Amino acid sequence: MAQDIVYLNGSFLPVHEARVSVMDRGFLFGDGVYEVIPVYGGRAFRLEHHLQRLGLSLQGIRIGNPLDQAQWSDILTALIRQNGGGDQSLYLQVTRGVAPRRDHAFPAGVQPTVFAMSTPLTEPDAVLQSGISAVTVTDIRWQLCNIKAITLLPNVLMRQQAIDAGAAEAILLRDGNATEGSASNVFIVRDGVVLTPPKSNLLLPGITRDLAVELCHANHIPCREADISAAQLRSADEVWVTSSTREVVPVTQLDGQPIGNGRPGPLWQRVSALYSAYKQDFRAGKVH
Ligand code: PDD
Repeated sequence: MAQDIVYLNGSFLPVHEARVSVMDRGFLFGDGVYEVIPVYGGRAFRLEHHLQRLGLSLQGIRIGNPLDQAQWSDILTALIRQNGGGDQSLYLQVTRGVAPRRDHAFPAGVQPTVFAMSTPLTEPDAVLQSGISAVTVTDIRWQLCNIKAITLLPNVLMRQQAIDAGAAEAILLRDGNATEGSASNVFIVRDGVVLTPPKSNLLLPGITRDLAVELCHANHIPCREADISAAQLRSADEVWVTSSTREVVPVTQLDGQPIGNGRPGPLWQRVSALYSAYKQDFRAGKVH
């Protein structure tokens, strides 16, 4: 069956045979980092960007990268192939490893646990006609949100708050400003200008965010990094959220109120089309 082969510590094996110790630091402390990488036409999209961010996340929690770029690339390429190629979503995680006992302090001399799996990638088309609903919630996370840590309990709780309110995503507010979504970055459009919060320790430097900004710059669409207040968010002409799995998604309702005229806006249409064209070029091998 496609998409049931995983990679664990040097081996490729069916997911139901993969086992990790209960003493793994990831299980006991959430002590690890991860990446989610889309695969189009059998190739990992923006792989170098994801591996670079993985390196920074590992550095941020003081785990030495267990593999070099070429080794990561070889493993992921093999995993994609073993799961049938085509379009997929790769998940990879590195934890501090299996310690002899539960102790907050770093264990000495343990090997990181390296795990990767493939999950189906669904084309986000359906949602795009009408956009999604979002709610604002208080950003209850820590001070190192730039690290893609597996410790996602705040994100889980905030996403569930959105689901419970009948919405698809939570947009997080910290000290009066929007930081990002529970699993996405946030953009607004005001008076023809695309705005997204600057990178900092308060948000994840999203790969999709960066590509959206890059596409705006390359196509002369005014785009700036700036703080976005809650009031600016609510009165924006357009709001979008971006992520590797959902790409660029228009938010058309916020806290039960329409954004703009309540329909996906013209700049979203443009950037989304540019994003699709870029993906097509990637599939055709024209960009890497
Ligand atoms: N999450 N911000 C947060 C908190 C995220 O969890 C994500 C992605 C993003 C967008 O980053 P990128 O464009 O690199 O996917 C921003 C992934 C998809 C997840 O946790 O499943």
